[in-house]
Amino acid sequence: MITLGIETSCDETGIALYADDAGLIAHRLHSQVATHARYGGVVPELASRDHIRRVLPLIRDCLSEAGLTTEAIGGIAYTRGPGLAGALLVGSAIAESLGWALDCPVLGVHHMEAHLLAPMLEPDPPAFPFLALLVSGGHTLLVQVAGIGRYRILGESLDDAAGEAFDKTAKLLGLPYPGGPQLEALAREGEAGSLRFPRPMTDRPGLDFSFSGLKTAVLNSVREGPDDDARRAAVARAFQDAVVDTFAIKVRRALRSTGVRHLVIAGGVGANQALRHGLESVAAAEGAAVACPRLAFCTDNGAMIAYAGHCRLMAGERDAPGIDVRPRWPL
Ligand code: KG4
Ligand code: ZN
Repeated sequence: MITLGIETSCDETGIALYADDAGLIAHRLHSQVATHARYGGVVPELASRDHIRRVLPLIRDCLSEAGLTTEAIGGIAYTRGPGLAGALLVGSAIAESLGWALDCPVLGVHHMEAHLLAPMLEPDPPAFPFLALLVSGGHTLLVQVAGIGRYRILGESLDDAAGEAFDKTAKLLGLPYPGGPQLEALAREGEAGSLRFPRPMTDRPGLDFSFSGLKTAVLNSVREGPDDDARRAAVARAFQDAVVDTFAIKVRRALRSTGVRHLVIAGGVGANQALRHGLESVAAAEGAAVACPRLAFCTDNGAMIAYAGHCRLMAGERDAPGIDVRPRWPL
């Protein structure tokens, strides 16, 4: 069976085709960064309108790349949530309409589950059970994964998500949207240890996170100045080091308390090289193997939606017809 995956939860339109024999056979992505850049963040109405423009052409591109027609589609998976309501509705409406026209099953999938399963698309996929650090623009979760659909949340952010903290810090430093990758680049120019920010909630037991205090520490430090490039690079470096250390401490704790020996790093912030290196050291010291999606599948994409939906469709899951999105949807 071939599953068409449709991702429209935020500011990327992602489309992919996943086949049970050949795996991922085509994928396409349109990023709306240029559309939202001048506003300094995602404008929901513009996001929805752009998804409407992009989804069908990208589906056509994927089919032609794979040398297939719509007849080949055996199932359709789309992101039901969490995400921006209007953006999700575009994916849902197109998935349901195509499913009806092609007479094939349609399934809404959870965006964070798809992020978590993204490393399964790589040549050396992680074995169950694994521990997943899911770090995106909207979520920060430490999850123990026993199998598909078998998730135990061990820890989460009590306030800002990690990606949100990166984006807000980047904004404070005058960096353009999207802030995460820009901040990583600036941090590379900063000297380690010239400034130090707190490692929030690491001095007490548990696996939850909090990033709003770190943001305040950054704000105070920026206000203290001086307002020059060297200082901004030092702030970026100190912020990133604090985040990486915080995750390293909590991941070490989670590996020890669960005894799980596979670690997955997924979600947009998982593209951060300093974070990957920091967690690779922790995992190596604990005798655990690390699996990450390729960089393009850390951030939002259609391939992870096609894969997550394919697994569930193959297991016989079906949705009743209807356009149904869940902008807020716990994992
Ligand atoms: O998973 P994602 O593409 O979308 C959501 O589901 O939220 O994650 C986007 C987030 C943004 O906050 C972005 O700034 C952050 O991931 N991000 C990064 C990097 N690349 C993307 N943060 C830090 N370093 C990066 N290299
Ligand atoms: Zn995402």
